[in-house]
Amino acid sequence: NMDLQVTYTHKELAFFHLHQTHHFDEFEYPSDQHCKGDLFPKWHLPLKIVSISSLPIFIYTFLRDVVHPFVTTNENTFYKIPILVVNKVLPVVSITLLALVYLPGILAAGFQLHYGTKYKRFPPWLNGWMLSRKQLGLLSFFFASMHACYSLCYPMRRSYRYKLLNWAYQQVEQKKENAWIEHDVWRMEIYVSLGILGLALLAILAVTSIPSVSHSLTWREFHYIQSKMGYLALLLCTIHALVFAWNKWVDVNQFVWYTPPTFMIAVFLPIVVLLCKSVLLLPCLRKKIQKIRCGWDANTEMNKTQMTSRL
Ligand code: HEM
Repeated sequence: NMDLQVTYTHKELAFFHLHQTHHFDEFEYPSDQHCKGDLFPKWHLPLKIVSISSLPIFIYTFLRDVVHPFVTTNENTFYKIPILVVNKVLPVVSITLLALVYLPGILAAGFQLHYGTKYKRFPPWLNGWMLSRKQLGLLSFFFASMHACYSLCYPMRRSYRYKLLNWAYQQVEQKKENAWIEHDVWRMEIYVSLGILGLALLAILAVTSIPSVSHSLTWREFHYIQSKMGYLALLLCTIHALVFAWNKWVDVNQFVWYTPPTFMIAVFLPIVVLLCKSVLLLPCLRKKIQKIRCGWDANTEMNKTQMTSRL
C-alpha cells in the first residue's frame, strides 16, 4: 500500500506485520509460551486468601445457625443455607479483605520507622502483599456488592413472609397493639444507611482503580482517593457492623456452643487496622514518616553527626 509506505518506515511496517500475525497466530494456534503462562497471575494470592477465609466461615456459620438448632431443639433450619448463611460469609470476607488492603501499608510504615529509611527493601512477602492490594480491594467490593443484593432481598423471601405472619399472629395472641421498638428501628436505619454509604465509597475506589481512570488522575489525586476514602470506607463498614451488632456483644444467646458470633470475627481485623492507623496519625509519628518518605535517612544522618563530632 503506497499510503502506508509514505507514513511508516520499513521497520515500523515490519513490526506492524509481526504484531498482527502474532495476534492471529495466538488466536489460531496458541503459542507454547502462552499455553504454559499462568492465567491471572496477580489474582492467585487474593483468590487463595478468599477461598481460605470463606470456607471456614461458611462451615462455622453452618454449624452455629443450622446444625446447632437441629441438634439441640430438632429445629429444621436448612432453608437458611442459600441466603442467610451465605450472607454471613460475604460481608465477613469483604470487610476482612478491605482490612487486608490497608494492613500492609501500616506494616510498611512500621518497617520504615524501625529502619529510619525508605531505601531499605521490604521483605518479599510484604512486597507481594502490597502489589496485590488492588485485587484484594476489587474482590472486597465484589463481595460487598453481593452482600448488599442478598441483604436487600431479605423481605422478598417466602420464609420471611411466613415469619412475619407468625409474629403478627403471636402479637394478636399476646394482645399487643404496637410492636414498635424504638432502639431497634434506629439501629436498622443507621446500619443500613452506613452500609450503603460504605458500598458507594467502595464503588468509587473500584472505578478509580480502572487504568484509564487512574491514568487521568495525578499521583496525589489517586493517592488521596485510594488512601483517605479507603480508610473512610473501612471505618463506615466497621461502624455498620458494630451498629448491626448493637447490644448483641453482651447477649449470652449469641455465644452458640461457646463460639463468638460472626460480627465479632468480622470487626476484629478492621479495628486493629483502624487503631494502628490512628496511632500512625499521631503528629510525632506522622512527621517522622513524612520526613522518611521525602528521602530523610536515619543512618546517613547518624554518619553525618558522627563525622561532625569527630571534626
Ligand atoms: C447497600 C449496602 C449494604 C446493606 C444494605 C447491608 C445490609 C446488611 C444487613 C441487612 C446485615 C445484617 C445481616 C444479617 O442479619 O445476617 C449486614 C451485616 C453486615 N454487613 Fe452489611 N450491608 C451493606 C454494605 C456492607 C458493606 C459495604 C460491608 C463491608 C465491606 C458490610 C459488612 C457487614 C458486616 C461485617 C455485617 C455483619 C455480618 C455478621 O457477622 O453477622 N456491609 N449488612
